[in-house]
This record gives sequence, structure tokens and C-alpha cells, in this order.
Amino acid sequence: MNGDVTTGVHAAWLPPEAFRALGSRRVLVQGAEAGAPAGTVHEEVARACAAYGGRVGRGPGGETGPYDLVLALTGAGSALPEPARAQARSARGTLGDEGFLLARRGGVTVVLADAPAGLLYGLFHVVRLGESAFGGEDGGDGKDGGDGKDDLPAAVHRPALRTRMLDHWDNLDVHPVMGQVERGYAGGSIFWRDGGPRGDLPRVRAYARLLAAVGINAVSVNNVNVHAAETRLLTERLGDVADLADAFRPYGIRLHLSVNFASPVVLGGLPTADPLDGDVRAWWGKAAARVYEAIPDFGGFVVKADSEGQPGPFTYGRSHADGANMLAEALAPFGGEVHWRAFVYDHTQDWRDRSTDRARAAYDHFAPLDGEFAANVVLQVKHGPMDFQTREPVSPVIAAMPATRLAVEFQVTQEYTGQQRHVCYLGPMWSEILGFQPWGGADDGRRTVAALVADPAAGGGLVAVSNVGDDPYWTGHPLAQANLYAFGRLAWAPHADPVALLDEWIDLTFVPLLSRDPAPLRRALHAMMDGSWRTYERYTAPLGVGFMVRPGHHYGPDVDGYEYTPWGTYHYADRDGVGVDRTRATGTGYTGQYPQPWSEVYESQERCPDELLLFFHHVPYGHVLHSGATVVQHIYDTHFAGADEAARTRSHWRELAGAGLVDAALHARVLERLDEQVRCAREWRDQVNAYFLRKSGVPDAHGRHIP
Ligand code: GCU
Repeated sequence: MNGDVTTGVHAAWLPPEAFRALGSRRVLVQGAEAGAPAGTVHEEVARACAAYGGRVGRGPGGETGPYDLVLALTGAGSALPEPARAQARSARGTLGDEGFLLARRGGVTVVLADAPAGLLYGLFHVVRLGESAFGGEDGGDGKDGGDGKDDLPAAVHRPALRTRMLDHWDNLDVHPVMGQVERGYAGGSIFWRDGGPRGDLPRVRAYARLLAAVGINAVSVNNVNVHAAETRLLTERLGDVADLADAFRPYGIRLHLSVNFASPVVLGGLPTADPLDGDVRAWWGKAAARVYEAIPDFGGFVVKADSEGQPGPFTYGRSHADGANMLAEALAPFGGEVHWRAFVYDHTQDWRDRSTDRARAAYDHFAPLDGEFAANVVLQVKHGPMDFQTREPVSPVIAAMPATRLAVEFQVTQEYTGQQRHVCYLGPMWSEILGFQPWGGADDGRRTVAALVADPAAGGGLVAVSNVGDDPYWTGHPLAQANLYAFGRLAWAPHADPVALLDEWIDLTFVPLLSRDPAPLRRALHAMMDGSWRTYERYTAPLGVGFMVRPGHHYGPDVDGYEYTPWGTYHYADRDGVGVDRTRATGTGYTGQYPQPWSEVYESQERCPDELLLFFHHVPYGHVLHSGATVVQHIYDTHFAGADEAARTRSHWRELAGAGLVDAALHARVLERLDEQVRCAREWRDQVNAYFLRKSGVPDAHGRHIP
């Protein structure tokens, strides 16, 4: 397997070869003493230099230059050689906890940070830049310089978002229905196996390294559905958690735990978990203190409460602010935070009742609580009002809570987007969400979703459900690595172009291993991946209506699978039309949860964007879209097109076979997944088209075969 590390696991975007440019240079690492994460910078550089013939110095031990690269903390000040010394003097104290400065002067590349984590991010930035960090392939010889022709002006890089987090839905015990990893499509957990720790800490460390390279700084290591064994991570199993924290620490990643709201009852033997009860509060205070004794830099708790059967404050007639603030109080003395999830809705709804609308639930529960949450509570809101569908409007909660710290939650694991059997690059979807303007173009359009979660006063961020497991390729489908990569990079720089991020990922993962022209590989991967989210959308549920998946495991088509269930996920297709009326005028009133202009835009069948029409409106099959097609013809057209695109995706990949552009085992793994994608896309096409032909009786205008 190309890019193997000693553990036999795919190196993803950090193959040793990606360190060639850096590793062949003379590098000074200064001010970064041993220990996490500054010592990590030295270790990384030393390893690269050992592999590629460079030399690493660690001042001020008398090593002399000249150097091609200086990586230093600004505090090292006068001990630094020029030009780093002058840069450090002016930058000191301006870079923050995680930022770094990159400059190139007179043949020396300088990376400076005020704090160790910033230096680590600076190092990985240099890796991303490759030769261009040293004046480029042609721009300079990178050895002596001095003529200024390959200088780079000083640029400061800082993460836009404070919290850049991955949540693992990993179980300790194999759950009878959900398995070792809930919604996991990449094998077992890298943390847990059969009720205990998996015991492969080098693997955890390798994961931490991959995450740090894309800027992730927080991880939660157990499922938000906290079952019996995971509940005990907080107490008896704290040692196992501390071992994981040790593996993440060198890479600047703080560990979090999902906790069971009923812990005082389950673990503490108290008669209640009422958040206003004094004994309950004292119990949590002690529990938090014990955690911080074991893990001084522990990040905090993630909580799914009163949701899909998990316990919560509603049992005691208390609000979610009461619940979250109680945990916040326990964590506050230690600097910890509560990630309280807003995914709260009635999953025992009567499908006959058309007035109850699951999409309304998060806003109805949480918007009235704006301003009531403690300063160390982050409300974690799924990006859409339903549940990580291929297409949903942006959750109205995000604009409704200006006095609350918010984190938006994405799903990197592809529960509803092909389960890592289908190619579905999600960068473009996330980018659209982050760029959404809840108040339209008003306020100069500055208030995007990204800006709302980036607000330093708010201090929220981005969280995603991880797609990683113990699979040798990490993500089952090797191309699904790109989603993890893009998520981290977008959390650092939400306005980055997702297609450019795909290039970065290709350039790190595949290109360093090639001794030939990478252009054909780049072309093929872009042809397969750039538009893959839209392709997936075309052959699955149409026009934002969502679901239509097989109940339970959520893979493959089942148009009516959820139609007569208690889950609140309906499409209401009948012989005349399809879609959910969420208008104020005649429907559930959900459109009223948006500020202007969206409340009006979504309310109106004429103005509503085509891709969300059936999310907001129940329309006749003959309704004409902005595209000019009727709804039913659009369904036929997109489903034929989507399935054809899936087949073309496979052709692009097949053409790479034998060209030596990707490793044979990786090629085979992707091809096997593509075969399944092509099969499944046809199944979607035929089931959806047949369903709507039978319901509507309207034939395809182009006379294509619909079974
Ligand atoms: C989805 C998913 C569940 C998960 C839940 C959540 O409903 O299917 O497996 O537990 O989201 O986000 O809590």
C-alpha cells in the first residue's frame, strides 16, 4: 500500500513524501521545548530531516546557521538569527493561542507563533506548501537567497473558529443494533473494542496527527447516545480516557466526553438527576474535579438530552438551560465547557397529525432560552432543522440566538450521503451552509453562518461527527478521507474554496508519491468528486424533501420507508402532488422561524429555491420549477442523470487502472465501492421514478423506460 506507515495503516494526507521539501532543508526549531505540543514540532522536523537528508537544530545550543527554515516561538526573541529576530520582535503577542506568521526573507523561511499550538499549525502549513514554502519549484534555489527574488511578505494565519471539533459516535460495547460505531462505515472504533479500550495508542496518536494537520483542536471519544458502559467513562474508566488524552495532547487536541445526564442516579445512586437539586449539583462538581485530576486539560462534556430516548431535564420539569448550566457550573472552575446539543424533538409523533413538524422543534425548544445559558455552554446545532439530509435549509436556530455561543454540527460520517460506499464530497455543501446569509444581503452580507459562529465574543465553532474507524484507509472509502480533510480546513478557514481544498488534499495524499505527471490523476479525481454531492442529490430524495431511505440503517431507497412512522420525516406524496407544507399561511408555520428575507422567500412557492421546494411546499406534480421543468419531470430527469453520472464516475476511475497513478490496492478498494454506488444509484433511480410514475400517472416526456 502506497504511503504506508509502519502500522500498516494508510498515511492519508501525511505520507512521509509530503515532508520532502521540509526534510531536505536546514531547519532551526527554537523556543519549542520538549513536551506537548511544542516538542512535537521538533520531533516532526527531526523525522523529516532524517528521511530526506536535512538537518535540524534546536537553539540556543550553539548550532550555527545558515538555515533555510526557522520555526520559533516569538518568545525566543533575541536568541533567534535574523531575519527571524526582527519578525519576532514585531509579531510578539499578536498571534494568539493558535495563530502563526509565515514570511520569507533573503532565502530564509520564517514561521513564528506566540504559543506552541500555533507553531504546530505553522509547521503543517509549511508541509502543505511544499517547495513553494522555499521559493517555489522555480522561484528560487532555496539555499542561499539574499537577492530577494523569492521573498514572501509576512502573512498571519489564524483559525477563524475557536472550536474545531470532531465527535465520535463510538460505543465501548458493540451495540446490538448500532454496532461498535453508531453510523460508522469504516470498521470498528479506533478507541474502543468489546467493552474496553482498543489498546492501540499509536493509532490514536496517528489520528491526532492527521487532525492537527488540518487544524482540529477538540475531539469527543464516545457516542452521544451514552449507554451503560460509556456512562462509566466518567468514573471507573477514567484511566482509559486519560490514556487517550495523552495520545491527543502532543497534537494540541483537547479530549471531551459525552456524558449521561442521569449519571447522578446511575453512577451516584442518588434518587434524582434534577439539575436544581443540591446533591445532584454537588455530585457533578465532584465528578468534574476527579476528571480534571486525571486530565488537567480536559475539554468538557457533550450532552444529548431529552432526545431519542436519552435522559434530560424535562423529566424534572426543568429547562435545557437549567440542565446545561448545572454541568457548566461543575466544569467552570477548571476551564471546561459544555457542548449541549439542540437536537431535541418528538420521535414518537403520530404520522396522522400533520400539524406537528419535526423541523420546528429545535427552534421551539431553544430560541426562547437565548441569553440564559452560562458563558461556558456552547449550544451545538445541527446545520439543518431535520437530520443531516443531503439537502436541507440552514437551521433557523443559528440566527435566533445572538446571546448564546453556538457551534454548528456537520456529519462527516456519511449516514445519509452514501455511507462511504458512494463518492460524495461534502465540502461544497458545507461551504454553502457556512456562506449562507440568514438576513440575506442586508448588513452587507457580512453576517454569514461562518461569521456568526466565528464571532470571538460568541466563541463557538464547528463540530462534526467523525467518519473514521479502524479500517486501514481510516474511512472505508479511501476518497471519503477528503471529507475529513475538508471539514478541518473549513473549520480553520470557512470561506476557503472547497474545490481548492480538494486540490490540497490530492496534492498531499497522492501527488508526493508520484514520479510522473500528476495532471491525469488530478483531472480524474476532480471529475469524480467536485460535483459528487449534487450527483448524489440527483439520484436520491428530490427537491429537498429528504429521507426516502431504508428505515433503521438509512442506506438505499425506500420512498415510503418513513411515511407512516413516528419519526416525523414525511413527504406526503399522493396522486396529485408531493411535499411538506411548512408555510405560515396554510402549513406548519415553520417558515416563520426565519428572519427576513428568508421567511418570505421560503413562504412563497414562486420565490422558494427549486432545491428546497418540497421541503417547504406541497405542490402538484405539474408545478413548474424555475428551471422550466415540472416537478415530476424534474424527478425523472434528475434521477436518470444522477445514475448516469454515477456510472461516469466509475469510468473515470477505471481509466486510472494500470496507469500507476494510484496504488493497486487502493484502486481496487475504490472500484469495489464504485460498483456498489452504480448499482445503488440505479436502484434509487428506478424506485423513485417508478413510485412517482405510479402515483402521478404522468409519463416521462422523453419516453424513457421506467419500470
Ligand atoms: C441521527 C442518527 C442517530 C443519532 C442522532 C443524533 O438521528 O440516525 O444515530 O444518534 O442523529 O444526532 O443524536
